[in-house]
Formats: sequence, structure tokens, C-alpha cells
Amino acid sequence: MEKLTKIEWSDSLSIGNKSVDEDHKELIHIYNDLVDLILFEKDNSEFARVLSRMTDYSLKHFRKEESYMQRFGYPHIDSHKASHREYIYNVAMYNFDLLGTTPPDPKKIAQFLRKWWTSHIQKTDMDYEKYHKEVNSKTIYKHM
Ligand SMILES: [Fe+2]
Repeated sequence: MEKLTKIEWSDSLSIGNKSVDEDHKELIHIYNDLVDLILFEKDNSEFARVLSRMTDYSLKHFRKEESYMQRFGYPHIDSHKASHREYIYNVAMYNFDLLGTTPPDPKKIAQFLRKWWTSHIQKTDMDYEKYHKEVNSKTIYKHM
């Protein structure tokens, strides 16, 4: 299995939108807390508790992002929303299984989270913000 690593915030994770960046920083913060729980060998119930805190925060963040994309008429909003839903489904299943009789390895969950968030931020989220900036620059140009 791959090595368990924390995520360190860097400019490569910034999508160029302060409010969204702040949310992503908080999500990364909670992810790093989960890694600590694994390193300190805390039991699964504590991991499940922090994971569900992360899910609550993710839901709030996704709602904000989705209404933002709606406002500037992002053409790929449906596939973006589908990716949010798929994430919530996966994490909810992990959370449920953690408290069951054959719990998944928390390391596996952490790896899923690290991969999902870094790739989602750097590809999927950056795409809408790029589009938003393009639309904005055209609007300014039109009114000159
Ligand atoms: Fe997103």
C-alpha cells in the first residue's frame, strides 16, 4: 500500500477564488486530522466521527460551489455535481462500514480522500473558475 501522507497547502492547490480556497484549506485540515488519528492508532469510531465531520463540511461546501456555478451558467455543472454526489456516496459507505463487523482499513479511506480532493481541486474545480474568469473578461470587454 502507498505511504500515508498529509496534504500541505500550496499555490498549486489554489483555484484563484478566495472563498473556495478557504473551504478547501479547511477540508485539507480535517483530512490531516484523519491522518493523525491513523498515526496515533486511534480506534475506528474516532476516525468515523471525524470523517462524518468532513462529510458535513463537504456537503456545505458543495452546495456553495454548485450555487456559484449556477450563477455564472457553468456549462459542465451537471457532471461536476455528479462527481460531488459520487464522493458523498463513497464516503457515506465508508463511514457506515467503519462501524460494521468488517471495517475497511482507515488508511485506504485516507488514500481515497487524498487522491479525490487533490485531483478534484486541481482539475474539476479549476475548470469552472477558469471558465468564470473567461466569461468575466469577455463581459468587461463588451462594455468598453
Ligand atoms: Fe467541486
